[in-house]
Amino acid sequence: MPDLIREEDTTIKVPDSQDLTRKAEVFYNPEMKFNRDLSCLVLAEDFKSRIKKRDSYTVCDSMAASGIRAIRYFKELEKIERKFKKKIFAIWLNDIKKDALDAAKKNLKLNRIAGKKIVLSNENAKTLFSGNRFDFTDIDPFGSSVYYLDSFFGNSMHNGLLAATYTDTAPLCGTYPNTCLIRYFAKPARIDNMHEIGLRILIAKTNIIAAMHEKTYSPLVSFSRRHYFRLFGRAKKSSKGTIKEHLNNIGYMLYCKKCMERKFVGLELFSQKDKCSCGENYDYAGPLWTGNLNDSDFCDRLIPCANDEKMKEFIEMLAEESRNGGICYSIHELAKKTKKDVLKTGKLISVLQKQGFNASCCHFGGHFVKTDKMLNGKEYGKIAH
Ligand SMILES: C[S@@+](CC[C@H](N)C(=O)[O-])C[C@H]1O[C@@H](n2cnc3c(N)ncnc32)[C@H](O)[C@@H]1O
Ligand SMILES: [Zn+2]
Repeated sequence: MPDLIREEDTTIKVPDSQDLTRKAEVFYNPEMKFNRDLSCLVLAEDFKSRIKKRDSYTVCDSMAASGIRAIRYFKELEKIERKFKKKIFAIWLNDIKKDALDAAKKNLKLNRIAGKKIVLSNENAKTLFSGNRFDFTDIDPFGSSVYYLDSFFGNSMHNGLLAATYTDTAPLCGTYPNTCLIRYFAKPARIDNMHEIGLRILIAKTNIIAAMHEKTYSPLVSFSRRHYFRLFGRAKKSSKGTIKEHLNNIGYMLYCKKCMERKFVGLELFSQKDKCSCGENYDYAGPLWTGNLNDSDFCDRLIPCANDEKMKEFIEMLAEESRNGGICYSIHELAKKTKKDVLKTGKLISVLQKQGFNASCCHFGGHFVKTDKMLNGKEYGKIAH
């Protein structure tokens, strides 16, 4: 008997005994509800900003599985169309697996969604991207979205929004550095801010692929959560000069294993012989994105639309992180290295702010601080007892 699943105002049926792997007949992962909730907010914001000026808006759920995402997107966009009294959107619902597409078709019926606004296709996402371009493209594979970026950027629309999921956290967080090197041409680091480094590696790699197609990728919302990374950003056709300037945001993070000092350096300034202020040699991670991970203004516009407090707080934190710049540090790790007290996050933030630096919480964890002060054991020791 198939199970009936409800998410917000959407109900779907998926075959039971789902094993959450590639082999699952039709994949549905309840853990990804948060990802879908936030994706609906991002899509709605983009659509609202365009609906007045446009007479078409296309969305592609390139890896639809049960169809839950496409159905939720459909309902979200219909609400906005009703408000603006305008009908312009269409959704491509695609999956390479025939079984998935059949299940998605049934779920569309179950939700009474049919007609011209839905286009069904059973293609490899790479082929789909090469022949079609969309205002909003969602890539949600098992593993890494990196394999689809070349075909996406090869044909992407100017200002098109890309939403991509990556579940390969182990290579990106340094458990499998060779895989990370091969997949992203970057060195990860298995240290406290490994998730921040992983996100930054992904944004750098996305931009490197975009640049080959004379485009840039500007991050709007980027986060790490449980077993995945999710990145939303805009693909823009750009001049060579703009691309060059944009790529100046790619560099390395130098870090000291002994005292936790860390800093970003540009590609040209990087030297493996650089020494930390404590005298140790720095190690490095990257190439990675040294610019902002989020567009704070865009995030601010999502906050009032979120309908639960946890989501609001999460987005507020992303906005705050990017307003402040800097790098993340685990306060637990700083305390462990210095054998000093674990300061409360709020306390450390207020001390750093009093010293004239930017400082905020960050979404990587409650015991993290993000600051543009170059923190290290010595500096932490001056603040903590
Ligand atoms: C993680 S599931 C997608 C989950 C879905 N987006 C959701 O939110 O519930 C990945 C899906 O991508 C499909 N897929 C894998 N490789 C693909 C490709 N190259 N092109 C299109 N679909 C692909 C799989 O058949 C599977 O249904
Ligand atoms: Zn050091």
